[in-house]
Amino acid sequence: MSQYETILVEQRGAVTLVTLNRPKALNALNTQILSELLDAMRAFDEDASQGCAVITGSEKAFAAGADIKEMQAQGFADMYGHDFFAGWDAFTRTRKPVIAAVAGYALGGGCELAMMCDFILAADSAKFGQPEIKLAVSPGMGGSQRLTRAVGKAKAMEMCLTGRMMDADEAERAGLVSRILPAAELLNDALKTAATIASMAPLAVKANKEMVDVAYETTLAQGVQFERRLFHALFGTQDQTEGMAAFVEKRSGIWTGK
Ligand code: CAA
Repeated sequence: MSQYETILVEQRGAVTLVTLNRPKALNALNTQILSELLDAMRAFDEDASQGCAVITGSEKAFAAGADIKEMQAQGFADMYGHDFFAGWDAFTRTRKPVIAAVAGYALGGGCELAMMCDFILAADSAKFGQPEIKLAVSPGMGGSQRLTRAVGKAKAMEMCLTGRMMDADEAERAGLVSRILPAAELLNDALKTAATIASMAPLAVKANKEMVDVAYETTLAQGVQFERRLFHALFGTQDQTEGMAAFVEKRSGIWTGK
């Protein structure tokens, strides 16, 4: 178990499970949770025994947003002067895959954190939204950008302008989540999915994550070129030699991460 106050971190084999743990505040994301989460993700990335992480919350809330009580008294000079929320960019630099397992509310910063993960598995109880407009503000952790890329302009615009929540079915139809699970099976399925990823050759996992991410930030031609170069690079790894030999010899590959 972990040394943190606002998150719980445990290793389940090669999978790191991070549970957001501010139940009284519905896991509202404050400065402490950010700093503990960044620390845990850094440790996860550096630990060669770990191959994939799962971030989850409680049954009621993945996270109900950035901590409104922490932001309430801040003015423009504080927010802009300290580049508030800029710390979250470091979360997205995690090189190993991170799955968001979302049950209940994923609102504001909670929805944005889920979208910063590599993909979202949703319980049938999940509710996604960007309700910041009701507080007379806006998303600030990337929501207006990631939601628009995930679900398109019409839905993203409507959600940001009205604060309307999307249920799990709508989120799956719109492409925001990869799959919906009964709430009782969410965590087990997420851990199983993470274990599958963690069982793959580590360099190939990093390369696959990196190339899918590049699709969001570049033209198709540049993205295809980037993919091809990384694909070529994987032929410089011992695990590629092993993986293809194992297939031909009808056995499982044994990875060295080299
Ligand atoms: N920040 C701080 N505290 C929060 C919180 C948040 N985002 N969301 C909930 N809480 C607190 C409540 O204040 C309450 O605390 P007290 O018991 O001390 O009063 C406790 O969590 C339980 O919440 P509720 O009593 O409101 O629970 P509910 O079941 O009646 O309602 C809810 C649940 C609909 C999620 C409601 O809590 C809610 O609307 N929360 C705020 C959602 C929101 O606006 N999120 C966006 C925040 S701004 C942001 O995220 C900016 C950004 O871009 C990053």
